[in-house]
Amino acid sequence: MDWPSLQSAVQSCQACALCESRKNTVFGVGQAPAQETEAPQVDWLIVGEAPGENEDLQGEPFVGQAGKLLDNMLAAMKIGEAGAGLSRSKGVYIANVLKCRPPTNRNPSPDEVAMCEPYLARQIELLRPKIILAMGKFAISSLTGSNDPVGKLRGRIHNLQHASYQAPVIVTYHPAYLLRNLPDKAKAWADLILAMQTYQEVMARPAAESSAV
Ligand code: URA
Repeated sequence: MDWPSLQSAVQSCQACALCESRKNTVFGVGQAPAQETEAPQVDWLIVGEAPGENEDLQGEPFVGQAGKLLDNMLAAMKIGEAGAGLSRSKGVYIANVLKCRPPTNRNPSPDEVAMCEPYLARQIELLRPKIILAMGKFAISSLTGSNDPVGKLRGRIHNLQHASYQAPVIVTYHPAYLLRNLPDKAKAWADLILAMQTYQEVMARPAAESSAV
């Protein structure tokens, strides 16, 4: 499935009951693709949990308070010679594990995750990001296969649990969690520093070594 077909498949998805309560599907957002038929060419993929109320209304991920924090985190990631920060329209794609909002923002159920994960997997195959930042336990468990707490997994590089594509995964706290637990922002910043270092290392490798399997 190419990028436009994948977008259409998500838009018309009825694989689980979330399709009955959603207002919009939330496919993802990021740098504009060079051509409409192609996936955006981005180095960074940020993965969250699921759309909330605002995201469901607007059809875009991370547009509420947690999204503002995420945008600030990205802006603080000064990468490259010009020292410009990242943003949702430059070098980055943002997606969730679930493409539809769980009612009342409850946690995604295992069945919902299982139904929706193939969409994220195909997004990753088409985007071919150089590095993935997994935010919160649902993104982390989907991408790394581990259900350990964030606190136990952070601080090291994980491998993507995907048969046909390899990329380093850095895990950190979900922005919504950070809004409720301000002292952990320092840990999240340390995670972003690890992500930036890892990215620089990936970019410094010879092309054959850093490409996907
Ligand atoms: N939380 C998420 O994980 N994703 C969103 O898109 C919004 C809030």
